[in-house]
Amino acid sequence: MKQLPADTVRLLSSSQVITSVVNVMKELLENSLDAGASSIDVKLDNYGLDRIEVRDNGQGIKAADTSVMAVRHYTSKISSHEDLEHLETYGFRGEALGSICAVAEVAVTTKTVTDDVSIQYTLNFTGEIVSQKPSHLGQGKTHSLAPILYLQLCYLACVVFHSFFRNCLQE
Ligand SMILES: Nc1ncnc2c1ncn2[C@@H]1O[C@H](COP(=O)(O)OP(=O)(O)OP(=O)(O)O)[C@@H](O)[C@H]1O
Ligand SMILES: [Mg+2]
Repeated sequence: MKQLPADTVRLLSSSQVITSVVNVMKELLENSLDAGASSIDVKLDNYGLDRIEVRDNGQGIKAADTSVMAVRHYTSKISSHEDLEHLETYGFRGEALGSICAVAEVAVTTKTVTDDVSIQYTLNFTGEIVSQKPSHLGQGKTHSLAPILYLQLCYLACVVFHSFFRNCLQE
């Protein structure tokens, strides 16, 4: 037996969390609702196959938390399994954003009420920030993603890729 490479494990486990465009939408909308948004705008290019953008007017992400916002198992919603008995949010696993980063190019723009300006963060395959720049957007959070890439992982990616598109076509 051989241990699978970390990137392969990441891609396989992400494809269990993120199975389709609808599933990406569900995760992002749940995050917006958990953030207290009263307005959520969604834009899909080519039914979400080329680009998905979700913009909300929720509380946004504190500057201190942005570096871990898409790192798997980081969440602001629970601190331990005991909190599961009193859940008040849709999300709690700290899985969704990190999993989306493994299968899509992701940019997150966020601003809290105390921030002067919003910042757009570009995330990599493992959910780490690779670049950031000021943005004109108002309070809340915007996700912009371009599914689906990492074709250089070739055969393995093709398996995930095909199952993703098969699900998309069925939807
Ligand atoms: N639209 C948003 N507005 C404000 N904060 C957000 C938003 N989306 C995500 N976050 C923050 O990023 C964290 C990670 O989001 P992610 O969806 O990966 O995990 P989660 O919602 O905690 O759990 P789950 O994986 O079950 O959805 C959240 O815990 C939250 O703090
Ligand atoms: Mg979530």
